[in-house]
Amino acid sequence: MNQTASQGPGRAVVVGQGYVGLSLAVRAAESGYEVIGYDVDKERVGRLVAGDSYIEDVSSARLSPLLASGAYRASRDPADCEGFDIALITVPTPLSNGLPDLSHIVESARMLSGFLRVGATVVLESTTYPGTTEELVAPLLEVSGLVAGRDFYLGYSPERIDPGNTRWRLENTPKVVSGVNTASLECIKNFYGSIVDTTVPVSNCRTAEMAKLLENTFRHVNIALVNELTTFAHDLGVDVWEAIDAAATKPHGFLRFLPGPGVGGHCLPIDPSYLSWWAERTAGRTFRFVELANDVNNHMPDYVVGRLAAALKQRGKAVEGSHVLLLGLAYKANTSDARETPAARIAELLLALGAKVTAADPHVAQSVPPASGVLDGVLRVPAGPRELSAADAVILLADHDAFDYGLIATCSTYVLDCRRRLCGDNIDVL
Ligand SMILES: NC(=O)c1ccc[n+]([C@@H]2O[C@H](COP(=O)([O-])OP(=O)(O)OC[C@H]3O[C@@H](n4cnc5c(N)ncnc54)[C@H](O)[C@@H]3O)[C@@H](O)[C@H]2O)c1
Repeated sequence: MNQTASQGPGRAVVVGQGYVGLSLAVRAAESGYEVIGYDVDKERVGRLVAGDSYIEDVSSARLSPLLASGAYRASRDPADCEGFDIALITVPTPLSNGLPDLSHIVESARMLSGFLRVGATVVLESTTYPGTTEELVAPLLEVSGLVAGRDFYLGYSPERIDPGNTRWRLENTPKVVSGVNTASLECIKNFYGSIVDTTVPVSNCRTAEMAKLLENTFRHVNIALVNELTTFAHDLGVDVWEAIDAAATKPHGFLRFLPGPGVGGHCLPIDPSYLSWWAERTAGRTFRFVELANDVNNHMPDYVVGRLAAALKQRGKAVEGSHVLLLGLAYKANTSDARETPAARIAELLLALGAKVTAADPHVAQSVPPASGVLDGVLRVPAGPRELSAADAVILLADHDAFDYGLIATCSTYVLDCRRRLCGDNIDVL
């Protein structure tokens, strides 16, 4: 078998042009590959063809020269995937009714099997439970009549991009790589070695799949730890933020995680449940850390609303009839990503209690993904002096740099600050 990908740049297909796929496709195109960015979403492909990026980390200015030179092309025609040397699968892995939903991976592998050639390489990048590459993707690709590891290369390499992070980008974040056999690993290591600074080979696909879930579960559990501590500390009159900062001065054995209004995005609310589902299925045991962390983090919106209700009561007001302005609908600062955002649950709770809710977010469009449907009905306003002073209470949820914090502190009657960006008599920090 020819080691196509190790012979230098060739034709690459990236299946899924979202946060992960578009970043990867652009990086591969800049590294000399002829890249097809394949996606089933008509609107997304239309925008990419027009040179209009919808992902903050990939500017339209970065996309334009790649489109002009033909190094990158977006398509939703599977026929454009023909003749690929390497295909990278970066499609969503959501939960459906609380269970892993691998339907997008299945569709992608079925589509690619029709174009598989001897010597080609397929890499799964979507986050998923251990065993997916070997037990699900390999048999679907082998419908082609070719055998994984013998006729084509196959492996798993988890994506670690952190949208909005300018220090750690795709190219300088070490990339864990794996293959179904030694030849696949070698080929996949060579491919990633040509687009990122450092590769971290591991002995099999299950280890790489597990490593990704471990990274996100570690973060999820530690956020839950400080979140739960926050709820106790407030009742006991201790400033948990100051305690965390003090603990973080220890030069070894402590990592700094901060509390917040809940977790969101495609990863933390979902990936740990893939791990706990897998543990239950394979070992017949509950992954108690994951269950507990889910419980704590999922209840943070209730805690935020409870704190707001108490603060309003102190000021002689009830939630019912009060005007609450939410600042930041994205799940974290400086991103437009509102998937699974805790802001949606907070808005829902406040509306159910009879509050009038408005929201300001310079990054999130009026219509956000269906999972956050309640936010579509929330009136959007600017975070200007008039809007801030008109609200009975403001909740700072995502601390975008674009907000004017001096203005927020001076114009608002009361602020519940879930990110510790503000101080003043009219401000409570979560
Ligand atoms: N967003 C992150 O920061 C991040 C980081 C690391 C890993 N991941 C993982 O990477 C994967 C992708 O996440 P994302 O955030 O890029 O998702 P996304 O929703 O931003 O993008 C996925 C894209 O795949 C497309 N798609 C769905 N089914 C398809 C199919 N059959 N063929 C072609 N395209 C298809 C969708 O239309 C969408 O444009 C997930 O498994 C996620 O957990 C995400």
